[in-house]
Amino acid sequence: MSQLLYEGKAKKMYATDDPNVLRVEYKNDATAFNGKKKAVFPGKGKLNNAICTKVFHVLMKDGIPTHFIDKISETEQLVKAVSIIPIECVVRNVVAGSLAKRFNLEEGTSFGRTIIEFYYKSDALGDPMINDDHALALKIATEEDLAEIRRLALKVNGILQKLFDEAGILLVDFKIEFGKLKSDGKIVLADEISPDSCRLWDKKTHEKLDKDVFRRNIADLPETYEKLLGRLEAVK
Ligand code: TMP
Repeated sequence: MSQLLYEGKAKKMYATDDPNVLRVEYKNDATAFNGKKKAVFPGKGKLNNAICTKVFHVLMKDGIPTHFIDKISETEQLVKAVSIIPIECVVRNVVAGSLAKRFNLEEGTSFGRTIIEFYYKSDALGDPMINDDHALALKIATEEDLAEIRRLALKVNGILQKLFDEAGILLVDFKIEFGKLKSDGKIVLADEISPDSCRLWDKKTHEKLDKDVFRRNIADLPETYEKLLGRLEAVK
């Protein structure tokens, strides 16, 4: 058995024979509110692996550098080894979630522009929001890193808005993470893009097709993710 390097809330990372390659296993666990709410959904790992693989294929076809190498089983991927930049980069097109709460705005409001937010990735601190100055002072990232993260985040947003639009879905917001390749230090999109890390609403009905169905007890999570996967698979 290969060595378990890291276990997160939704994934496990294992070493492979190649130090520049890791194996990711998607778990069936769902968590919300920094792990305070938890459940296990048989089939969730398989669905997120399939959805994330589809999304990363589309992004890579459009020139986004990522850690993704290949999907190797229903629940596993091979990825390039990176050191994660400890910034959760949230991209928002429509008001929802914590943004709605912070400014007392109605969910679904559109500013007509995209908002990028940075959070310091630290479970112990509850992922506090930071600005560029905090990131520089805390030596989390350099100015060049932050510029590249913003550039890639906006490009990812454009590609994903188009992909989801073709599936009849509004990309409300999402969270992405970046890492520096162990091999050459280049910044690439890492972690996952899945309904765990995005808000996705049906364009017409605003039905939720993401983890908010679990956070807010709205609907069955595997049924919701299955519906999303079906919609994405229909996009050529
Ligand atoms: P928020 O509105 O709760 O700040 O979430 C913004 C987006 O980021 C939403 O699509 C869910 C995603 N997200 C994560 O992927 N992980 C997290 O820990 C949090 C808080 C949000």
